[in-house]
Amino acid sequence: MSRLQPSLKASSFTESVIREMTRLANLHGAVNLGQGFPDFPAPDEVKEAARRAIAEDHNQYPITWGVPAFREAIATHYDRWYGMRVDPEREVCVTCGSTEAMIAAMLGLLDPGDEIVVFEPFYENYGPDAILSGAVPRMVTLHPPDWTFDEAELREAFTDRTRAIVLNSPNNPTGKVFTREELSLIAELCVRHDAIAITDEIYERLTYDGAVHIPVATIPGMEDRTVTISALSKTYSVTGWRVGWAIAAPLLMDGIRVVHDFLTVAAPAPFQVAGVAALALPEGYYAEVVREYDERRGLLMKILAGVGFEAAPPHGAYYVMADISRLGFADDVAAAHDLVERVGVAAVPGSSFFTDPANGAHLLRFAFCKKLETLEAAGERLRR
Ligand SMILES: Cc1ncc(COP(=O)(O)O)c(C=O)c1O
Repeated sequence: MSRLQPSLKASSFTESVIREMTRLANLHGAVNLGQGFPDFPAPDEVKEAARRAIAEDHNQYPITWGVPAFREAIATHYDRWYGMRVDPEREVCVTCGSTEAMIAAMLGLLDPGDEIVVFEPFYENYGPDAILSGAVPRMVTLHPPDWTFDEAELREAFTDRTRAIVLNSPNNPTGKVFTREELSLIAELCVRHDAIAITDEIYERLTYDGAVHIPVATIPGMEDRTVTISALSKTYSVTGWRVGWAIAAPLLMDGIRVVHDFLTVAAPAPFQVAGVAALALPEGYYAEVVREYDERRGLLMKILAGVGFEAAPPHGAYYVMADISRLGFADDVAAAHDLVERVGVAAVPGSSFFTDPANGAHLLRFAFCKKLETLEAAGERLRR
């Protein structure tokens, strides 16, 4: 066999379904409710801070694990919102988005054959991340409509080979916000099995209906065994800046930092400097962001209900998982292609969030990080 071909690793997963849907949306001129990026502008003061950073020549390699002032700002952010003590010198690594933070954490903390517990449906990156780091995922199902899990199933998923659990709260694609009780159970199991929690909290500021985001690292016993991951991407509508971070106790952080150094050297310097301004925005900014997202959520729920998609309102993040069973499509992939090609609305097939595609064959994920008029335009097309 020719050796001019992708590696076995690279051949064991395919291109991102979510990003493929964006390509199809562009090809067919569809309204894109697929990929989770806003179609409205980032805050002016944050954009201005980036322009200023470039003008002031923050244009060379920064310190590998992050611009000092930005690491300070991240530490202040965790103290301000969650009373979490973070040492910016030893416990922070700034990365190219949450995406890099997650793969750097897995490569830096897992050995081939280690088991990781993952809740399913899951954000599609975690599958390839596990393959690249040689970890073996053990799935625990989240059950609709409120996406709860079975305690016995979670207990069984932890074995003497478990190295870590991968969490994502507020959750993509379900909108679930894990409760203190659920996190306490996870903490009990992590402590008992000496396991790490790698937790993707990128939607930390986006919760609705009184749901409260609780960082896993603040649950007693988890301080030194949690990798907390977040980013500027969602909270400040700058998904293209590629700035995120991982927070962990020094022993774990050492593993993350060395991998990060050789993956990317550093995240973009001027956008880290601008990140200081973003994290310093006043409380009113965050309240307004949530108010606007709540309005978009309400509109999308109304549109979907009006055309026969069944869905429960998400309590966090910015997606709705809709049940298409009653609409007569062969499956989710057929439905997504039909919608993007004939109706002109892009959504993501539910199967891309499950190991066994059959489990998501009745689901489509719609993103509501869009202007009200974009959502209205999608609604018009769906009704037609
Ligand atoms: C759960 C989750 N994690 C990570 C990301 C990617 O984040 P970033 O742009 O910071 O790499 C996304 C984007 O949709 C996401 O939904």
